[in-house]
Parts: sequence; structure tokens; C-alpha cells
Amino acid sequence: MQILDGKKVSEDIKNEIAAEVQKMKANGEKVPHLAAIIVGNDGASLTYVSSKVKACERVGFESTLIKMPSTTSETELLKKIKELNEDDDIDGFIVQLPLPEQIDTQHILMSIDPSKDVDGFHPENFGKMALDMSTFIPATPFGILELLERYGVETQGKHTVVIGRSHIVGRPMSILMGRKGFPGNSTVTLTHSFTKNIAQITTQADIIITALGVPNYLKAEMIKDDAVVIDVGITRVADEADPRGYHITGDVDFEHVSKKASFITPVPGGVGPMTIAMLLKNTLLAREQKQL
Ligand code: GUN
Repeated sequence: MQILDGKKVSEDIKNEIAAEVQKMKANGEKVPHLAAIIVGNDGASLTYVSSKVKACERVGFESTLIKMPSTTSETELLKKIKELNEDDDIDGFIVQLPLPEQIDTQHILMSIDPSKDVDGFHPENFGKMALDMSTFIPATPFGILELLERYGVETQGKHTVVIGRSHIVGRPMSILMGRKGFPGNSTVTLTHSFTKNIAQITTQADIIITALGVPNYLKAEMIKDDAVVIDVGITRVADEADPRGYHITGDVDFEHVSKKASFITPVPGGVGPMTIAMLLKNTLLAREQKQL
């Protein structure tokens, strides 16, 4: 069994990006600038957004964090997005999800200028992704592709089972694994809450990608020998022994599944850090495309 070490690979990618930024600086060019909007006070979302901003510093990007109260109306958020769309200094921005219930997420995502949509959530970018056109690929699926590629995991002709059909991970992942090329050329099954006999399907899988948010959901009996297991789950589980009062748990029963798998991502240190690295990569692309 080999660990797909997202922490290490994400550091490599950040080093590559930092080197690009140094070149930009040396040429007197403006460095990439990422902005992030967060609405409300959800602890986990605040942690993720802070990590994204910290990663910008690490590679030499400029960053702006915009915090809006949980009572923010859709109109107020749309106004802020319009400002960022029109601000020439901002190369890319994201609106951290989920949003409070008074705000329609699709309205918000559709109001982002597609050329600054570094999350790749705008329907135009999502459509381009589905049509194999060059675009921003959502950061978590992009990070998973990058991990598979850098470890040389074979995907062609393999059966990939994706668990969970979220717009952020499961749905785009199911499209990307079936696309032409590498990593891709895989036969994909997308499973969700209405799927029957899920274990019967997962035991047929060469590659399993779980994006469910249910701690320790995937058990050793649910996979075949030598399966590749990608765990996208990051659930906070209360833990008095931890100074934070919680620890992070994935969707996979790592202790047992890792004994059967050929490759596996740990949690933490697998997909999570890759998401941030690929958001930076998309921001660098946004900056480069603006100069064309
Ligand atoms: N919430 C969970 N993952 C993500 C992500 O990749 N981007 C945004 N904007 N919100 C998220």
C-alpha cells in the first residue's frame, strides 16, 4: 500500500507556484491577487478560508479576505461580487460555500465573472469542463487528478466509483474521470443517497472516491483487494483530548481499508491540502490569462 501524500505534493506545487511568482516579480509584473468572501461565522468555513489566504502569502500572492455577517442579504452579496468583478487588481475570487439559507447559491455563482471564477463553479466554466474545453477545474477534483497523475496511478479502462454527487466534488469528479485523456478514460459510476446495494458497487471498483462527509463510512468489506481509495471527507468529530475540542475524520475507515488498498489518501494530509494548492494554481492561470 502506498500513501498518496497530499501534504507533500501540495508543498511541491506551492514551491512551483512560488517560483513562477518570483519570475513575475523579477519581470516587474503584478503578482496574482486572490480574494475570498465568507458570509457568516461557521468555524470550519472560517478555518478553510484562512488557510486559503495563508497559502497566498506562502507563494507570494496578494490576498484579500472579505468577511460579511450571517444576516447579509443576497442583494448585498451580489453588490460585493460586482465590485470584485470590476476590480482590475483582483485576478480571481471565491465565495466560500455553504451560504446562509436566505441566499440563493446558484444566483451568486452565476454572478461571478467566469474569467475570475477560480473555483470553476460558474455554469459556463462547469459546462466547458464537461466539454473538455480549457477552463478552471474545481479545486478539489483538480487536486485529486493531480495526485493520481503525480503518483502515476492508472485510470484508463478502470472502474471508478464516486460516492456523493455534490456540485463541488462528486459531480465534477464523475465527469473528469470519464473524460478523454489522463487521468481519465475511466468508466464511472456516480452513487448517491438513492443508490441501492452500494457495497455491491464499491466492491467492483478499481478506484473509489468518497465525498460524503460521514466519518468511517467506507469499510474494508466494501472494497476489493488493491483498490485505489481517495477520501474527500473532512468531518469535525468532538474530541476532548484534542486542544481544539475536535479532530478531523475522513469518510474511510483508514485503519482497516489501508490494509487492503493499493493507494490511499490519509485524512488529514491527503485531498485537503491539494484543494488549496489547486486554488492557487487556478489563480495563477487567471492572472496569466488576463495578460494574454
Ligand atoms: N466549501 C467547501 N469546499 C469549497 C470550495 O472548494 N470552494 C468554495 N468556495 N467553498 C467550498
